[in-house]
Amino acid sequence: MKFFLDTANIDEIKKANDMGVICGVTTNPSIIAKEGRVFEEVILEIASLVDGAISGEVKATTIDAQGMIEEGRKIAQLHKNMVVKLPTTTEGLKACKVLSSEGIKTNLTLIFNVPQAILAARAGATYVSPFVGRLDDISMNGIDLIKDISTIFKIHNIDAKIISASVRNATHVIECAKAGADLATVPYSVIEQMMKHPLTDQGIEKFQKDYRAVFGE
Ligand code: E4P
Repeated sequence: MKFFLDTANIDEIKKANDMGVICGVTTNPSIIAKEGRVFEEVILEIASLVDGAISGEVKATTIDAQGMIEEGRKIAQLHKNMVVKLPTTTEGLKACKVLSSEGIKTNLTLIFNVPQAILAARAGATYVSPFVGRLDDISMNGIDLIKDISTIFKIHNIDAKIISASVRNATHVIECAKAGADLATVPYSVIEQMMKHPLTDQGIEKFQKDYRAVFGE
């Protein structure tokens, strides 16, 4: 399972990219709004830093297929690595069909059940994004959704890539990987959590203490 970083925060993107652990970035309207910057400007800055797929979503207020298609074409022209993120609605599927037929990569977002994932893939989506955390929030099982989509995509040779989205913690990461997700898009805080182990910290401390005792600084 590979990783995208789920943010438009440049500092966080630089940190994760410098560690060599991400192969792309995903954004959404809330993430863009959080940074308070012009969409095109922040997307271009991200694309200049990360050599991988960058998902840019159509405006939250664009709800018709024609509007999504026009916006999607503009997003795709921003940079060669752009992936157009579309909501999994009837209009989003129509836009996905057209954009995919033009060779534009798409990421169908806000997927909460298996049928939505299958329809998104059949409409030509490059990526499908099932939301794990938001399902867990309503006492449903987000990981089971990843398992089911992964099983069904394998049985039917569907090549849309599964991005586990709405990933909230390191346990989600382990479970998504076991469930067969191709990618997980994670906030920077999850990367930090994944790196943390008290025995690693204690081990470093002990190595330093033992080394200094004999060799000094
Ligand atoms: C996916 O692409 C979304 O940007 C994201 O993972 C949503 O996560 P949230 O449920 O934590 O907002």
